Amino acid sequence: MVRLSMGCGGAMYTQTLILTAAHCVDNLGTGPSTSVGVTWGVVDLQDPTRTTRTSNYVHIAPGYNGDGKDWALIRVSQPIDSPLLKLATDTSLHSGSFTVAGWGAAVQGGPQQRYLLKADVPFITDTQCASAGGSYSGLIFNEEICAGNWTSGGVDTCQGDSGGPMFKRNAANEWIQVGITSWGIGCAQPGRPGVYTEVRYFANDICSAAASLGGCQSSGGLTVGNPGNQASTVGTAVSAVSHVASGGTAPYTWSATGLPAGLSISSSTGVVSGTPTSTGTFSVTVTATDSAVPARVGSTSYTWTVSSAPIPGCSATNGTDVTIPDLSTVESTVAVSGCAGNASATSTVAVSIIHPYIGDLVVSLVAPDGSAYVLHNRSGGSADNIDTTYTVNLSSEAANGTWRLRVQDAAASDTGRIDSWTLNLGGGGTPSCAGTNGTDVAIPDLSTVTSTIALSGCAGNASATSTVTVNIIHTFIGDLVVTLVAPDGSTYVLHNRSGGSADNINTTYTVNLSSEARNGTWTLRVQDAATGDVGRIDSWSLSL
Ligand code: ARG
Repeated sequence: MVRLSMGCGGAMYTQTLILTAAHCVDNLGTGPSTSVGVTWGVVDLQDPTRTTRTSNYVHIAPGYNGDGKDWALIRVSQPIDSPLLKLATDTSLHSGSFTVAGWGAAVQGGPQQRYLLKADVPFITDTQCASAGGSYSGLIFNEEICAGNWTSGGVDTCQGDSGGPMFKRNAANEWIQVGITSWGIGCAQPGRPGVYTEVRYFANDICSAAASLGGCQSSGGLTVGNPGNQASTVGTAVSAVSHVASGGTAPYTWSATGLPAGLSISSSTGVVSGTPTSTGTFSVTVTATDSAVPARVGSTSYTWTVSSAPIPGCSATNGTDVTIPDLSTVESTVAVSGCAGNASATSTVAVSIIHPYIGDLVVSLVAPDGSAYVLHNRSGGSADNIDTTYTVNLSSEAANGTWRLRVQDAAASDTGRIDSWTLNLGGGGTPSCAGTNGTDVAIPDLSTVTSTIALSGCAGNASATSTVTVNIIHTFIGDLVVTLVAPDGSTYVLHNRSGGSADNINTTYTVNLSSEARNGTWTLRVQDAATGDVGRIDSWSLSL
């Protein structure tokens, strides 16, 4: 169930398509449109956990002219990891009562609602509905279906509910969409039923329109298994994450949105692999399209966190076993020192616990100041062992101090042990461990000049894959010797008179600086060793 920004409802047809009423979007016409806002996943439209999307295409029922055919599809720019409402394909459910829902007026003429309301409305036959007179006399029997309390009224959809679904369970206990809220005279009046688009009559048309917009709803429900949230480290190849589609016709074609930079999905196997190149938290959606005609789609979404590589001094492991007796709380500690500043927003805690019933366990990370972060809270039932890397936003915590992994066994009879755990407080992109000097320094003929970058507050040694980006303007780079000088005076030659008469150096050098403390003044030294050509240091950057 979704709320649309123009004040209508809608139902999830596929992860990217919302089925609504044509009269909700007829002012937009069929074609690209980014004007519809979509709110999903909440009862309270102001719930901060709501999911929002923006339309990128609107498809209005062909031939819609305000009379019947009141359906439309809205495509959203990013899939929504939502269950889908299947469409009725025959009249077998046209009896008894239906459920309707929406944020529309709760009484005729009343205001729109903040909280989703639902109601049950009895089926009314076409003949009886048409007998209501007025506009009802023009009821299109195949295209419209009526529902409401004929004799007493009192229950109905109303203004703002349009586009929302009317649905009921089938014999297999699945929810099936039978109608789309369309119109009525007033709301909830006796002898004036609600009129709904008869979904089963349009199910094929909706499917073919959907196929042209990315995929028709799978009758069996094409689903993609969710591999769960992922955690990786910059610069370290991920262990391949595979995805499994079911319910459609193999082979599937795979695509993904939102993957961390450096990762890609194989379109034929659905396996994600690669090496992340930057830190962050990424919302990934993986979509499978099947081989049926028309094609069907399914997708799943999860979060992928990429943390910075462990920085010496900012990560620590405790590999000493700690037994977890029944109904006890135990702790294992690691002490961090030499990690300046706060921990990263993408800190990780890799936990290995041996225990035959992890539903017994509450696992928390306790910061030096006593703040606790719950990592695992009695989920998993009778599953064995926890072997998981949790990503935690620890950006409000000073990194230095004693960190504790606290494990509580909260139910009788199973015991185990903390095997080992590793804390990586990151350095959230390590901004203080990088610097740039953009001030030009002239390189006169036959001279040696320098440019410096001073780093402080950057603990520990530099990385073995530190980089130095050098931009030098010079008309004969075979004249130049370019050297990085560490704070302690150690020199690393980056360029030694190669390149002959070529112009300019615009190169990023990777240097193993793991024996160098980061803090201090780093120098780029440029010697012009032959007569005739001059230039300047334009800028240089250091990332340790
Ligand atoms: N046309 C209305 C809308 O745009 C829906 C009216 C439904 N009325 C009724 N009595 N069932 O929201």
